[in-house]
Amino acid sequence: MLKPPIPRMGGKSRLRKRIVSMLPEHICYTEPFFGVGWVYFGKEPSKVEVINDIDGELVNLFKMIKFHSEEIQRLIQYEICSRDLFDFYKEIDTNRLTEIQRAIRFIYLVSQSFASKGVSFGYGTTKNPSPHIFNSSSLNCLKERLRNTYIENKSFEDIINRYDRPHTVHFCDPPYFETDGYSTTFGEHEHLLLRDTLASVKGKFILTINDHPTVREWYKGYYLTETQVHYSVAKAKNARGLYKELIITNYVPPSAAI
Ligand SMILES: C[S@@+](CC[C@H](N)C(=O)[O-])C[C@H]1O[C@@H](n2cnc3c(N)ncnc32)[C@H](O)[C@@H]1O
Repeated sequence: MLKPPIPRMGGKSRLRKRIVSMLPEHICYTEPFFGVGWVYFGKEPSKVEVINDIDGELVNLFKMIKFHSEEIQRLIQYEICSRDLFDFYKEIDTNRLTEIQRAIRFIYLVSQSFASKGVSFGYGTTKNPSPHIFNSSSLNCLKERLRNTYIENKSFEDIINRYDRPHTVHFCDPPYFETDGYSTTFGEHEHLLLRDTLASVKGKFILTINDHPTVREWYKGYYLTETQVHYSVAKAKNARGLYKELIITNYVPPSAAI
């Protein structure tokens, strides 16, 4: 199993083995809400794979890893862990950067910030600076993994509709209901659009989302599997701990995985 190049809020590191074990047979695999792709990097490659995120900086990072991983590795070794540099990267106009520089900026901001949000400089007195800018030697493996993958930068409904076939499986990990923290809004309107888009697919879907009465109502009639995930990073200390989540499928989930 490979590890994504950077951390990301909502990443499916703890649930990925379970999700992978629940994937049905398929030819085409899509991840319309890719983030940093814990599940994609943890599964065997499918014949056709599509990864997508609405965040253009994230998509640029994966494109650059695919085409220029050596150059990113070469340049990133000159970065230092510094609050001044963090503020410089945060404020710089990305239109003035090359795509490779944009990728390095993104790795820097995410890996050197508190809770990987790219907002405030992360530092501590009991832990070392984040190693991502000093140790990016694994980028070459990720480049190989990305070889046969379509990388898209659209909203989820476009990807689901475009690639949906009876032999497609869509793994959907949207922002959780009633939570924020991403660069774009994902409110009730977007959640309902997702539900309606998934309701019309010819293929299969597997959706992960927070366990909420409204969500249960929206997806009644599908297969709902309850699970619990431990989060160590949250805005408020008292929000850290065990969270109830749902894994929702439009096919009978394999019993061994439940
Ligand atoms: C919970 S995260 C996905 C985490 C991912 N499974 C992982 O392991 O890293 C949700 C992602 O959805 C993306 N997103 C938000 N709105 C979107 C939209 N309308 N279409 C596609 N992606 C969207 C966010 O940028 C974010 O990366």
